[in-house]
Amino acid sequence: MKAVVLGSGGWGTALSRVLCDNGHETYLWSHNPAKAEEMARTRENPLLKGVSLPESLHITGDLSVLEGADMVVCASPSFAVRATGRKAAPYMRPDTILVSVSKGIERDTNLRMSQVLQEETHHICKVVALSGPSHAEEVGIRMPTGCVAACPDRAAARFVQDAFMNDYFRIYTSYDIVGVELSGALKNVIALSCGICTGLGFQDNTKALLMTRAMAEITHLGEQLGGTRRTFGGLAGMGDLIVTCTSMHSRNNRAGILIGQGKSVQEAMDEVGAVVEGYYAAESIHQLAEREGVDMPICRCAYEVLYHGKQVRDVVSELMTRAKKDELLETTWM
Ligand SMILES: NC(=O)c1ccc[n+]([C@@H]2O[C@H](COP(=O)([O-])OP(=O)(O)OC[C@H]3O[C@@H](n4cnc5c(N)ncnc54)[C@H](O)[C@@H]3O)[C@@H](O)[C@H]2O)c1
Repeated sequence: MKAVVLGSGGWGTALSRVLCDNGHETYLWSHNPAKAEEMARTRENPLLKGVSLPESLHITGDLSVLEGADMVVCASPSFAVRATGRKAAPYMRPDTILVSVSKGIERDTNLRMSQVLQEETHHICKVVALSGPSHAEEVGIRMPTGCVAACPDRAAARFVQDAFMNDYFRIYTSYDIVGVELSGALKNVIALSCGICTGLGFQDNTKALLMTRAMAEITHLGEQLGGTRRTFGGLAGMGDLIVTCTSMHSRNNRAGILIGQGKSVQEAMDEVGAVVEGYYAAESIHQLAEREGVDMPICRCAYEVLYHGKQVRDVVSELMTRAKKDELLETTWM
């Protein structure tokens, strides 16, 4: 099988390695030809330090490698997915499987990444979302990891499962692309919030409270937008929330810690030095929650801190002193 991975960040690179391990003819494309040349020469990617790139991996800045690809993986940061999809579109055929691994919601349109890719490729081929608790740094060194390949078309989801699955990368299939993609985007905002808690000096109880109640919010919005409840408790939902909120590999978590320690949002993003997708997702979630009439107090507070300079100590107090609630809102007492 010929596979082309578009985007040579940490994740695109780690996934390319998996595809090489699985014996596929694999190409890794970088939008920066000089970077592609450098990686091809050194067999290393500075964004994935300590992981050597297999000799069988073709690294290129030339998009024509897309010609005849059976599977194309879009691994751009979410802000660049539309542009990447547009560049790839002329090469897509009805039987090409397009895989979206970016976690975000497009600004302005509030579309999921697979929707953006479908628009740009004129719905010519099937798009599958691959998501789950998966740090590139760990997949790159073959640590046992699990993800979900989601698509309403079962054959397409199974195609992606077969392409990626091996003895260290376990792939489940799901029809619920809406829930899987929303989970991946929304958890970045919670990771930022969790980092803020760490930066403020809060400990395990607070983070468990935040993560669990945030998951209730995510599930509520996700269901409203067409996701399936159980997805949010699965690998792409709770699994990814746990890994992102508890790891220093997460830029969202690291940016949050700096904000909690008193840095401004801009200072924190500059210090992290890479795209902090949770910052952008916070605005999209806020807009979606307003549009759908879903109450999301944690996400709203994160939005107000990130976009309106609200003090973190004030929002913590606001959250803790909200009106009393029943945890299981939808149940009736016996
Ligand atoms: N890193 C992970 O562990 C991981 C895991 C799962 C999913 N993801 C998702 O994968 C996507 C990529 O993340 P990453 O960590 O590999 O990113 P990264 O920050 O490591 O790399 C970003 C890459 O995008 C390139 N880039 C920058 N501007 C671009 C543009 N305008 N057009 C095309 N490419 C451009 C950069 O050169 C760089 O190679 C994100 O949406 C992320 O949420 C990441």
